[in-house]
Amino acid sequence: MSLFIIADPCWNIMSRNLFALVLVYTVIALVCASFESKEDEYLANLKQKDSLLHFKLWQLEHGKVYTTTEEHSRRFVTFKENLALIEQLNKEHNGMAIFAANKFADISPAEFGSTVLMRRRSVPQHSQDKFLKSSPSTDPLPESFDWRDKNVVSSVKDQGSAGTCWAFSTVANVEGQFAMKYQKLLNLSVEQVVDCDDSEDVPKRYGDCGVYGGWPYLAFGYLQRQGGIETESAYPYCCGGGKDLCFVCPNGYWNASICGPPMPYCNVSQSCPYKLDKSKFVENLVVNDWKQIDMNETVIAQQLQVIGPLSVALDARMLQFYSKGVFNPYLCSKTTLDHAVLLVGFGTDKGLFGDTPYWTIKNSWGPSWGEKGYFRIKRGAGTCGINTQVTTAILA
Ligand SMILES: *[C@@H]1O[C@H](CO)[C@@H](O)[C@H](O)[C@H]1NC(C)=O
Ligand SMILES: *[C@@H]1O[C@H](CO)[C@@H](O)[C@H](O)[C@H]1NC(C)=O
Ligand SMILES: *[C@@H]1O[C@H](CO)[C@@H](O)[C@H](O)[C@H]1NC(C)=O
Ligand SMILES: *[C@@H]1O[C@H](CO)[C@@H](O)[C@H](O)[C@H]1NC(C)=O
Repeated sequence: MSLFIIADPCWNIMSRNLFALVLVYTVIALVCASFESKEDEYLANLKQKDSLLHFKLWQLEHGKVYTTTEEHSRRFVTFKENLALIEQLNKEHNGMAIFAANKFADISPAEFGSTVLMRRRSVPQHSQDKFLKSSPSTDPLPESFDWRDKNVVSSVKDQGSAGTCWAFSTVANVEGQFAMKYQKLLNLSVEQVVDCDDSEDVPKRYGDCGVYGGWPYLAFGYLQRQGGIETESAYPYCCGGGKDLCFVCPNGYWNASICGPPMPYCNVSQSCPYKLDKSKFVENLVVNDWKQIDMNETVIAQQLQVIGPLSVALDARMLQFYSKGVFNPYLCSKTTLDHAVLLVGFGTDKGLFGDTPYWTIKNSWGPSWGEKGYFRIKRGAGTCGINTQVTTAILA
């Protein structure tokens, strides 16, 4: 039967036709491929010409107006450079996280670092007695966990253009501790901590330096010594910009060798001694101590469920353009930190390329940034140092 088919003259004709067909298809495919690369080039050109349009649309969307043409062209150059960085981060994350031209798209990573992030510092090391003693749990972790369902996490705030993340992180942790203890969720005053906390850890050269950065562990110490905190409405946030912008003078001695050069200008009547009103301290809110949690991320997840939302810090250089997904950048230090935030939960992302465990984190860059003001970062690999400065206030 098969011999007969091979001998069939018809088959020969068909096979010759088939060969011709394959040849034609190959030629078409080759021609198409060359057209395609031409098309890529054409698109790239169009993109270049179109980036001005893209910038104009972005300006409209974010209500950005520049006063001089010089500033406009400078911002446009930065915008284009940022688009290239965004593309690179998207490639690197391969769909696991998405980066986009968000409200920070007209400021360079360097400018972002100096206005929004804190001066990069190595991880503060604490003595053994500051670590929370916990008996290791053998219970398996739940698939996911989230404090936001439990009315202990307040609304997402916006620090504006001030390096005050450390005060937001501190206050958000205290809000959680207070809500867990008294079933009452309040917005507490971040500005009080920014203005009044002049804590220093002189031997280690760490300090709380207002809009130039600080550390939650020091700020917990300040709240303990101060004896209380006002609410956000009693002592509102003003140092980050907006129409009520304030210029706060240092409260006490400004150690330039820790904090850097002081503010060029400040207004005494906008500063701590004029604004702090102890009679407005929230009743029953007394910070007694603070503790650090272990660096083991399984232990952190266990403790998070018991203690409440925790203050954490990380290297956030590549976080500027984060839009959604699980953050896990190539360029990230595990030992130098520049941003403090609040850990509220964890879970596992079931993606195309397997499961990725993540942490859920509350940021202070406004509700329009990231995932409604939150972001997720890879869990279990010490990503960006997220496990190195996990702390909490202890309430009396
Ligand atoms: C906290 O402030 C936000 C506005 O930023 C407000 O919407 C929210 O209701 C306040 N929450 C509490 C518990 O007062
Ligand atoms: C300021 O900080 C430096 C560096 O840590 C320290 O040597 C100095 O004693 C500090 N000054 C004061 C007055 O605390
Ligand atoms: C200083 O701050 C006070 C209170 O906000 C304000 O009334 C005053 O105009 C400010 N002074 C200057 C010079 O800006
Ligand atoms: C982290 O802690 C868990 C739970 O106590 C333990 O099983 C695991 O071995 C620890 N991992 C490391 C690297 O120490």
